[in-house]
Amino acid sequence: MDKLSCYVLLLLSSFCFHLCLSGNLNTGSNQALNSGGSPDPGKLEYHMGPVLASPLKLYIIWYGNWNQTHQDTIRDFLSSLSSPAPHPSVAEWWSTVRLYADQTGSNVTDSITLSGEFFDSKLSHGPRLNRLSMQAIIKSAVTSQSKPLPLDPRNGFYLVLSSADVLVDEFCRAVCAFHYFTFPATVGVIVPYAWIGYSGTQCPGMCAYPFAWPVGMPPPPPTANGGNNVIHPPNGDIGVDGMISVIAHELAESATNPLVNAWYAGDNPTAPGEIADLCIGTYGSGGGGAYVGQVSTDAAGSSYNLNGVKGRRFMVQWVWNPVKKRCFGPNAMD
Ligand SMILES: *[C@@H]1O[C@H](CO)[C@@H](O)[C@H](O)[C@H]1NC(C)=O
Ligand SMILES: *[C@@H]1O[C@H](CO)[C@@H](O)[C@H](O)[C@H]1NC(C)=O
Repeated sequence: MDKLSCYVLLLLSSFCFHLCLSGNLNTGSNQALNSGGSPDPGKLEYHMGPVLASPLKLYIIWYGNWNQTHQDTIRDFLSSLSSPAPHPSVAEWWSTVRLYADQTGSNVTDSITLSGEFFDSKLSHGPRLNRLSMQAIIKSAVTSQSKPLPLDPRNGFYLVLSSADVLVDEFCRAVCAFHYFTFPATVGVIVPYAWIGYSGTQCPGMCAYPFAWPVGMPPPPPTANGGNNVIHPPNGDIGVDGMISVIAHELAESATNPLVNAWYAGDNPTAPGEIADLCIGTYGSGGGGAYVGQVSTDAAGSSYNLNGVKGRRFMVQWVWNPVKKRCFGPNAMD
């Protein structure tokens, strides 16, 4: 292994794995890394809690000043989770998440519907947020005087998406996103939610991998590891295309570990050892380290590994397949 790929591997395993996509409460874990730069997947275990088995109704809270083109890309991705599209599709990607069940024998649902949106462009909780702000933002959205979102503890899943002009504590330093659940004392009920930030201007090198590389680090030469290391975003924006994979990551993890007591690896439920953490940086066969794996390239030279609705293409990381016992996606060669 040459120095550069060694450095990139380190970056992905320590920097990205530990820092980019957070688990739940904290991110500073000391989990042992296997050779693929992930926590030991052999330790992925079920801890008796529920998975998200009821049909999911997704509610987006757009926090801040959002670009409509970017919003459309995200909407189309979410609509693709439960809609037919040419192989390899986003819905086929979700079928790996469906392989997880809980102690009642209920699998993760295959019904995911974008059911409502709330526009918090006036920044109800200011331009600088922390973890607890997310619950307060959800509370504001479901109690708003004007067009509130329903508060739906049975089927609801709330996505708080913060825009380029919003600062979130730890964002870009320790996390790109996280998922958790609301507290009855704050929101009134327990519902799963995730926050994902738009990293396009704040820290694309950290949260929009593989479309951007960390500041001060040159991307690997195009011919290294199979030739597709310089990755162009399929929907034309590094920040939003990077965010799509992070949204997918958080949805997969929340579906299989919504209350942080179902599927995860390692002893610490708050450390990042969930089904998507195990596969960070892998988007196709042979992926790992600094190589994303075998993915497709469109006529414009952009990379993608999944098809979605309306002819859209997306580049989404793989998740752990509990049957094959490896990272997997529908674009796998075997
Ligand atoms: C449901 O989960 C079980 C594992 O408990 C798995 O064997 C089965 O294939 C899953 N069903 C679907 C539709 O994915
Ligand atoms: C929105 O994003 C698109 C694509 O990234 C860009 O071309 C356009 O200029 C942006 N619009 C605004 C108003 O910023």
